[in-house]
Amino acid sequence: MNKFEILINKDNKIDEDFCKRFNLIEIKNFEGKTIKIEKRTYKEFLKLKKEVFKKENLEIHILNSFRDFEEQERICKEYVELYGENLAYKLAAIPGTSEHHTGLAIDITVKKDDGKFAKSNDELYAENKKFLIIHKYLSKYGFILRYPSDKTEITKYNYEPWHIRYIGKKIAKKCFEKNMCLEEIK
Ligand code: DAL
Ligand code: ZN
Repeated sequence: MNKFEILINKDNKIDEDFCKRFNLIEIKNFEGKTIKIEKRTYKEFLKLKKEVFKKENLEIHILNSFRDFEEQERICKEYVELYGENLAYKLAAIPGTSEHHTGLAIDITVKKDDGKFAKSNDELYAENKKFLIIHKYLSKYGFILRYPSDKTEITKYNYEPWHIRYIGKKIAKKCFEKNMCLEEIK
């Protein structure tokens, strides 16, 4: 298994040292904020973005990618306060169990009909029809939809149409063609 194929979930934790294996680069997100992302993941994302625009006239961008353990802890606390523990942990991973620690995960956004990019979870869910079109292009560039709507019992996370994960073309194609999530492949 190469490092891009790593399974990270509630039962498969990583430590901060492991995250150092990934080559992070700095880029600008949809609102011009500097964020970090894994280098190959970004390269493939740019190709995906280009094709989705050309073929579907849909403009996608990056909301965020790499998050350190501290940032992940902050998100968990915020979600627990907002939604209570039960729902919070179906939305956010506890530090050490998030794919965002590697920079291989991207939360993408899509341009709304008003010309602005969707930002909040509610806005993103409202664009689900556009995301469903985008999902068809993911595997060609080595991405999977990590938390599909029909796999919530297996992934233990709610459907996230925006969270895509770079894993390489071989596994991405297998997941897409067999309609399997990453937990079912390993
Ligand atoms: N939202 C995903 C599960 C994360 O926090 O990594
Ligand atoms: Zn995410």
